[in-house]
Amino acid sequence: MFPLTRMRRLRRDKFRPLVRQTELDVNDLICPIFVDENIKEPVEISSMPGYFNIPPDMVAEETDCIADLGIPAVILFGIPHEKDETGTHAYGDRDVIQEAVRTIKSDCEKEIIVITDLCLCEYTSHGHCGMVDNDTHEILNDPTLDILGKTAVSHARAGADIVAPSGMMDGMVNAIRCALDDNGFLNTPIMSYAAKYSSGFYGPFREAAKSGFSFGDRASYQMDPGNSDEAMREVELDIDEGADIIMVKPAMPYLDIIYRVKKQFKMPTAAYQVSGEYAMIKAAAQNGWLDEKRVMYESLLSIKRAGADMILTYFAKDMAKLLNE
Ligand code: PBG
Repeated sequence: MFPLTRMRRLRRDKFRPLVRQTELDVNDLICPIFVDENIKEPVEISSMPGYFNIPPDMVAEETDCIADLGIPAVILFGIPHEKDETGTHAYGDRDVIQEAVRTIKSDCEKEIIVITDLCLCEYTSHGHCGMVDNDTHEILNDPTLDILGKTAVSHARAGADIVAPSGMMDGMVNAIRCALDDNGFLNTPIMSYAAKYSSGFYGPFREAAKSGFSFGDRASYQMDPGNSDEAMREVELDIDEGADIIMVKPAMPYLDIIYRVKKQFKMPTAAYQVSGEYAMIKAAAQNGWLDEKRVMYESLLSIKRAGADMILTYFAKDMAKLLNE
């Protein structure tokens, strides 16, 4: 007790690195890329200052730029030239994601892990993550699973290193694992968006992916923000179904979930610092209300401290630059 114990002794600059428990590393970062078939030049996403949708022919260049910073992985989101009720362009061999993966694998100079977001909402005209019953507007779980399996196989065939299902359909990890295995992709890992909340923080992403929905919302398949035991069940089910990496999303408003998931399951755990988290920090920084670099660093460090092994973040490039300095 004071005066014997003085907590401030070790807070002097020279001791801080020695006693610091959590460090961020470039190897923790995963950088999202939005590939948009409808554009010829990069287009800035207005609610995500500094972030751009990229035309397909610039994907290799962008990926090389990310790899040059030492970032080990990208996650690809596709915006197709045409959306329809069943999300046909999610799984064609020549569709936006499949082509983007092939381009990266053939044209990039550096090796980088290519993760593909595996969901239908970017490809369906109604903007939902599954098939829809036109009369009741219900999102149909089981008919969606076949399509997710087919989509996963098309990604793996194009060369995707990891597939990341984000649609929160029951049984999706199992359906995808079976489809991959049946087609010989035994070694393609699944990163499952296991505990994905129905969150207002996805707003800017829906602008980027042009995936606002034509009716309803996603509360019938994404999780209620008030629940945490349910997240444990979701994660456990996905592990049982064969998930290799599990994800919690969003990140900062759900640090308690990241902590519980890591503690309980000890699995490779990813956290997604989503579009709204990025937008908030950017907006405050643009107003001069927050120091952007400092807050970016602190937000990512807190996610890692909570237990995440890897972080999907729109700050990946900026954070890597800062860490490389
Ligand atoms: C697709 C998907 C979404 C995000 C990642 N994958 C959108 C959603 O569920 O509405 C959100 C990512 C972000 O906000 O940065 N299902």
